Amino acid sequence: MFSIIAAIGKNRELGKDNHLIFKIKDDMKFFRDATIKHKVVMGRKTWESLPGKLKDRENIVISKNTFDGPDSIIHDMQQFIEDNKNTDEEIFIIGGATIYQAFLPYSKNLYLTEVASTCNEATVFFPDFKPKDYTKTLIKKGSDNGLDFSIFKYTKI
Ligand SMILES: NC(=O)c1ccc[n+]([C@@H]2O[C@H](COP(=O)([O-])OP(=O)(O)OC[C@H]3O[C@@H](n4cnc5c(N)ncnc54)[C@H](OP(=O)(O)O)[C@@H]3O)[C@@H](O)[C@H]2O)c1
Repeated sequence: MFSIIAAIGKNRELGKDNHLIFKIKDDMKFFRDATIKHKVVMGRKTWESLPGKLKDRENIVISKNTFDGPDSIIHDMQQFIEDNKNTDEEIFIIGGATIYQAFLPYSKNLYLTEVASTCNEATVFFPDFKPKDYTKTLIKKGSDNGLDFSIFKYTKI
């Protein structure tokens, strides 16, 4: 089973020039707690935006290229989706925009940190999903670094 996890702005902003836009401690903690000991799947650009491998998680990178660092590199994304979409194991899809777009139709859960803020310089956006296709549960609400946020779990109906 795939679970998407992302932090998005009011206009579904995700990132700017290969960096995150919103830095919220509680969101970072939520991300770590949710993904720890799980497989995390990301695009090559997201991998390059990280300071290094995410500890205590199996780092899987999707790329047409080959390089050192991740635990594995997936060249054939569609085959990976076919092989894993029906497993009981929760596999976390951690971005970026191209990977969220590709995995959205196959993802059971979306963990979205919705930040009540916008960024005009955003260069990548979360796909336009249909909330009515999901049940929505509030996990946490808060404010940090001058940013109001709510963390929701959407589960496909
Ligand atoms: N707000 C959040 O929660 C969040 C989370 C994650 C990332 N982000 C942000 O998102 C941005 C990066 O997103 P992005 O969309 O630009 O890049 P990305 O999705 O992270 O990576 C794109 C790369 O993934 C590989 N790829 C994608 N589709 C593929 C396919 N079908 N087959 C093989 N390889 C494939 C390609 O790598 P190759 O070119 O090597 O082939 C492609 O260049 C950054 O700004 C980052 O900070 C935000």
